Amino acid sequence: MNIDGKAWRTIWLEPGGRSVGVIDQTLLPHRFTTRSLTSCDEAAEAICTMVVRGAPLIGVTGAYGLMLALQADPGDGALEAAFAQLDATRPTAINLRWALERVRDRVRPLPPEQRAAAAGAEAAAIAEEDVAMCAAIGEHGLGLLQELAAVRPAERQGEPLNVLTHCNAGWIATVDWGTALAPIYKAHRAGLKVHVWVDETRPRNQGASLTAWELGREGVPHTVIADNAGGHLMQHGRVDAVIVGTDRTTRSGDVCNKIGTYLKALAAHDNGVPFYVALPASTIDWSTSDGVAEIPIEARSARELTHIQGLGADGAITAVRLTPEGSEAFNPAFDVTPARLVTALITERGVAPASEAGLRGLYGERP
Ligand code: MRU
Repeated sequence: MNIDGKAWRTIWLEPGGRSVGVIDQTLLPHRFTTRSLTSCDEAAEAICTMVVRGAPLIGVTGAYGLMLALQADPGDGALEAAFAQLDATRPTAINLRWALERVRDRVRPLPPEQRAAAAGAEAAAIAEEDVAMCAAIGEHGLGLLQELAAVRPAERQGEPLNVLTHCNAGWIATVDWGTALAPIYKAHRAGLKVHVWVDETRPRNQGASLTAWELGREGVPHTVIADNAGGHLMQHGRVDAVIVGTDRTTRSGDVCNKIGTYLKALAAHDNGVPFYVALPASTIDWSTSDGVAEIPIEARSARELTHIQGLGADGAITAVRLTPEGSEAFNPAFDVTPARLVTALITERGVAPASEAGLRGLYGERP
């Protein structure tokens, strides 16, 4: 997508093929900088510290991380150690494990001298597939938005369609296009008037800092709201649909996403607002069914709650303390929205009910 008129992706192989470029998301929206990852350690660190984040992008970064590890040492021991190191960085998004397994399965049968190149090719293929899947999600989601716009009462025709989103499931959470934001970008480019309510998404504020930034770069009208404002807006008819992303979706359609998503789904259900979840196939965990019981929820540092980062009057990016010294803080990073609260899943293969039958209808080849 565009930054100041120039098309970017979030991750790329740098010239020479021995390092990987990424956008440093920890400094957005205040500074746009890129970083070069030159080793498996640096890739793992980038995922842990959220230089890169978002389920699909974490997966691609992990895949390139294995390539960097194999460039340093293509042996079996190094492969397994790198797999374990990268896999441990963030436990909730299933795309990471999926991408790591895909690269490991590809390279393990090969002689060591061929492994790094094969890992790089596989990582590049995963990245390209992610772009294609997100673009297709955008097309299917666009169809839904067009239907929602068409059935509005006559007096609301011509007004923008109001879509609420949580966290950042836009292009910088993927390689390009995004998941939840892809339908919005497609709608905006197709001339359908859309306006996005952007949940700030405490504690790390991915909505306020990242979603607002990327929507602004593409010229999509949007308004940042406090996380607690969504229910009120829905009660007053100011939300036509909610679209969020997901870090892991069970085969029964339970959706694990950024903390606070569940509360939005409850409010949407209570107010008859459609609640859609956009995801590529790489986010489906076919081995789990009950999301609340089975999905590991990452607990991140309490500092993300006790402190907040922003741009100071002196132009420096600074963190300031919010809470009293000595108060405990607990920071679960994700929650699970049960399938019964999800109106439909928007995938690269089409729109389906959030249920095992719905998912199997799209992915019939799954055993
Ligand atoms: O902790 P984050 O910022 O990696 O969490 C991201 C989300 O929760 C996204 O909604 C999810 O990964 C889907 S991204 C297309």
